Amino acid sequence: MAEPRTASPRRLPALRRPGFLPPLLPPPPPPLLLLLLLLPLPAPSLGLGHSAELAFSVEPNDDIANPGQPIVLGCKVEGTPPVQVSWRKNGAELPEGTHTTLLANGSLLIHHFRLEQGGSPSDEGDYECVAQNRFGLLVSRKARLQAATMSDFHVHPQAVTGEEGGVARFQCQIHGLPKPLITWEKNRVPIDTDDERYTLLPKGVLQITGLRAEDSGIFHCVASNIASVRVSHGARLTVSGSGSGTYKEPTILVGPENLTLTVHQTAVLECVATGNPRPIVSWSRLDGRPIGVEGIQVLGTGNLIISDVTVQHSGVYVCAANRPGTRVRRTAQGRLVVQAPAEFVQHPQSISRPAGTTAMFTCQAQGEPPPHVTWLKNGQVLGAGGHVRLKNNNSTLSISGVGPEDEAIYQCVAENIAGSSQASARLTVLWAEGLPGPPRNVRAVSVSSTEVRVSWSEPLAHTKEIIGYVLHIRKAADSPKLEYQEAVSKSTFQHLVRDLEPSTAYSFYIKAYTPRGASLASVPTLASTLGEAPVPPPLSVRLLGSSSLQLLWKPWPRLAQHNGGFKLFYRPVSATSFTGPILLPGTVSSYNLSQLDPSTVYEVKLLAYNQHGDGNATVRFVSLKGASEDRHCYRHPHRSHLHHLLRPLSSVWPEGQGPPV
Ligand SMILES: *[C@@H]1O[C@H](CO)[C@@H](O)[C@H](O)[C@H]1NC(C)=O
Ligand SMILES: *[C@@H]1O[C@H](CO)[C@@H](O)[C@H](O)[C@H]1NC(C)=O
Ligand SMILES: *[C@@H]1O[C@H](CO)[C@@H](O)[C@H](O)[C@H]1NC(C)=O
Ligand SMILES: *[C@@H]1O[C@H](CO)[C@@H](O)[C@H](O)[C@H]1NC(C)=O
Ligand SMILES: *[C@@H]1O[C@H](CO)[C@@H](O)[C@H](O)[C@H]1NC(C)=O
Ligand SMILES: *[C@@H]1O[C@H](CO)[C@@H](O)[C@H](O)[C@H]1NC(C)=O
Repeated sequence: MAEPRTASPRRLPALRRPGFLPPLLPPPPPPLLLLLLLLPLPAPSLGLGHSAELAFSVEPNDDIANPGQPIVLGCKVEGTPPVQVSWRKNGAELPEGTHTTLLANGSLLIHHFRLEQGGSPSDEGDYECVAQNRFGLLVSRKARLQAATMSDFHVHPQAVTGEEGGVARFQCQIHGLPKPLITWEKNRVPIDTDDERYTLLPKGVLQITGLRAEDSGIFHCVASNIASVRVSHGARLTVSGSGSGTYKEPTILVGPENLTLTVHQTAVLECVATGNPRPIVSWSRLDGRPIGVEGIQVLGTGNLIISDVTVQHSGVYVCAANRPGTRVRRTAQGRLVVQAPAEFVQHPQSISRPAGTTAMFTCQAQGEPPPHVTWLKNGQVLGAGGHVRLKNNNSTLSISGVGPEDEAIYQCVAENIAGSSQASARLTVLWAEGLPGPPRNVRAVSVSSTEVRVSWSEPLAHTKEIIGYVLHIRKAADSPKLEYQEAVSKSTFQHLVRDLEPSTAYSFYIKAYTPRGASLASVPTLASTLGEAPVPPPLSVRLLGSSSLQLLWKPWPRLAQHNGGFKLFYRPVSATSFTGPILLPGTVSSYNLSQLDPSTVYEVKLLAYNQHGDGNATVRFVSLKGASEDRHCYRHPHRSHLHHLLRPLSSVWPEGQGPPV
């Protein structure tokens, strides 16, 4: 049954069931007026991924706040008024207080940003702006608010001695938020950054190449951000006379470190090489791909700068120092990992679906690492279960049998370590006038091992228009995809479902149909078919010699799930009782009988059993007379699907027939 796919973000109020009309809506205008009202509106914002009735035009950004200072988290909502805006912090509603103010435009003002101190709470955390109107509730992306900080130096610059013409390198390390800006002083005067021999790397490294006597002095590292300014210990640079002329192997003093960055940042891969003659520094990627030229720069004598990094820049970078004119070289390598915040490739689209049908939202996000996707319904995390299903790593949300309670704003939230984003869409459930309610009092009673009788009573409203019922059937253990349907005439309120499997639970529900469409689905009901003993197994016989034979059948592993297996019996036809039962598991498919009397006809019986008892047996009569080592091949025409049946024809009789007297 094809369901109409109506993707109209603007709902037609006239199609709603009056009982669900919110009090704010004016009475539905006549159709012509409605059309005129709708026409001048701008085209629905397809692709923007938000429902027109409620959307964020500004979402809060991740930010760093200075303790004691005010900070504003931006939020702006567009939607059908009245719209209420509130905020959540770390998932919990942020209480109104004197400490924060909700501004008229929806933004949140924190008057004096607090750090955790002696038990008083901190304002650090993940903030979400929440908007609500009569169409539902919408949650913004998570904005991470952190306090500006500056640690002490972990690494102070160390005293260095360098040869004239050689290289000196100072390093300092400090943690801070935002990342501190690092500058250097020589003898408490800022160094001359125009001097090409001085290279400053943002991570806190100062390289001086082509050392001269006048470079000697005391060097300090200065770190600053909005939280503070700190000056490191001083470190002395001593420049000694040159040992020029003596050959020195190329050496890499410092190679690139492993770096994890976010897209658009700048990667600085350090490489400091020395040697005499001065080595030539070059860069390559370990995977052989070209480094490219755009945004690539070499800083100082060998540092590689990649500005505005993309995910494609991820890789292992190799710095090589070559002795000029030779193949003598040293290498060092570092891995660059570029992360990308989650962003949407496909946004969910607002849809209207008739009651009882299936609504589907699709949302695809990309990022590095690949983002996790979760769904919210009116701001609450939506779990799979009941009539809600999530597929393809949560990229598809499907809601079957939609009813009025499913009308809401649905949001897809994509998150990875580099950031979070959200996209939203609205589901409108169309309630056609004059449809019957769901069939009531649905009952299912098992009649046999293969049949269940389902009965129901008439829906409450609009029963005159009913043209029939459709019964939906599936194994309770199967996915709803595997359900099938049987049509039932309107003149009856029961239906015998046939051809079911024994000892199996089935789920049934029913819908009433009118020329305008289907009712809502009835409450589903369960019933299990009765159990039964298994059918007789096929059996073939193969003579192995004058006193032994092999019995062959098909294995039936499922018997084990029902406490079953095979039972085997045999006797000389003249004997009064059988030898057996020989109990065999369902996985066994052959059995050899030996030390038989070559002059006797034997009767062999095989049956399968389960928790419901023994099935009927398959019987074979076998004569061992005339069996020789030189066996002929014979395939019984009616048992060709069975295993080999090797024997002169006269010795094996078909089922139910004894040996000729
Ligand atoms: C909201 O209003 C505040 C103060 O009036 C202003 O600073 C802020 O920029 C506004 N934010 C937005 C998103 O319009
Ligand atoms: C960089 O990462 C690689 C693995 O990717 C590791 O083997 C290597 O030791 C790391 N180097 C540094 C300097 O941490
Ligand atoms: C689901 O995600 C995993 C891990 O990110 C991925 O290996 C798999 O291919 C994804 N499956 C689908 C159906 O997208
Ligand atoms: C799918 O969403 C559910 C909750 O909505 C979440 O528990 C689960 O981890 C998500 N799965 C993936 C692959 O992101
Ligand atoms: C029965 O006999 C056949 C032929 O000699 C042999 O291949 C098979 O392994 C035997 N089966 C058992 C269960 O002993
Ligand atoms: C067993 O055989 C009897 C008599 O032929 C028949 O009525 C019955 O249905 C059979 N049962 C099964 C499980 O095949």
